Amino acid sequence: MQITDTPAVRAFLRCADNGWQQGWHERNGGNMTYRMRPEEAELCRAAFDETGPWTPLGVRAENLGGQYFIVTGTNRYFQNILVCPEENIGVAQLNADGDAYRIVWGLTVGHKPTSEFPTHIMNHAVRVQATGGASRVIYHAHPVDVIALTFLLPPEARAFSRALWQAMTECVVIFPEGVGVVPWMVCGGVDIALATCKEMERFAAVIWGQHGLFCAGEDFDSTFGMMHAIVKAAEILLKVYASGKPVLQTITDDNLRAIGEAFGLTINGEFLD
Ligand code: 13P
Ligand code: ZN
Repeated sequence: MQITDTPAVRAFLRCADNGWQQGWHERNGGNMTYRMRPEEAELCRAAFDETGPWTPLGVRAENLGGQYFIVTGTNRYFQNILVCPEENIGVAQLNADGDAYRIVWGLTVGHKPTSEFPTHIMNHAVRVQATGGASRVIYHAHPVDVIALTFLLPPEARAFSRALWQAMTECVVIFPEGVGVVPWMVCGGVDIALATCKEMERFAAVIWGQHGLFCAGEDFDSTFGMMHAIVKAAEILLKVYASGKPVLQTITDDNLRAIGEAFGLTINGEFLD
């Protein structure tokens, strides 16, 4: 079986293309990684070249040592991923210490994983712990409405979580813990990786000021779905703000508590009045 025909890679390709079709990936914007199950990596192993040199990551994820990740390439375009997977995505193996990687398949053009690979790896490390090993996908996109919202709300988890919960009833069901926020920082390095994974200890979604959004999840559907819901809620908020009309009613804190009770959810009480 070709690597690109394996279920894990096919699901990765489909998710990436869905993001492109949503308009979340101008030029090379956005990136994605998938932490492969041992049996998924095994299925591809015959095609892996595990002889290359290790490249330091700049961060250390001890709990991920030796694991394999499907990863988008730096400066590659989401619009081309489905058309030519091996040029635009690859498989990276972490070394035993979890502080360096090598490409074992793919990325035949550019040869380098996303510049946000340190952020992805640190997010995986933290989400694996937060979910008892279930978390597998980290997805970063540049959705217009989420970026626009970062010009209007204070760059704080509480402000964003409340606004998004109030925008659309399902939001508090999808992310009852809220969303994290990292105010504007230089992207593509270790500092933003550490700031983001600190937020990921508590939140499966983290907004980057004037940049975009990171979502984590157990599979592609739930991760993409989280991104989609946040983007839609941001669009609703912007439409309401742009109307210039007074807000006559919203979802109150008591309404949010009632949803929590009805759905058996623990809503982050720090963000309720
Ligand atoms: P890469 O092309 O390195 O993935 O960068 C795109 C991006 O979105 C940076 O945050
Ligand atoms: Zn980005």
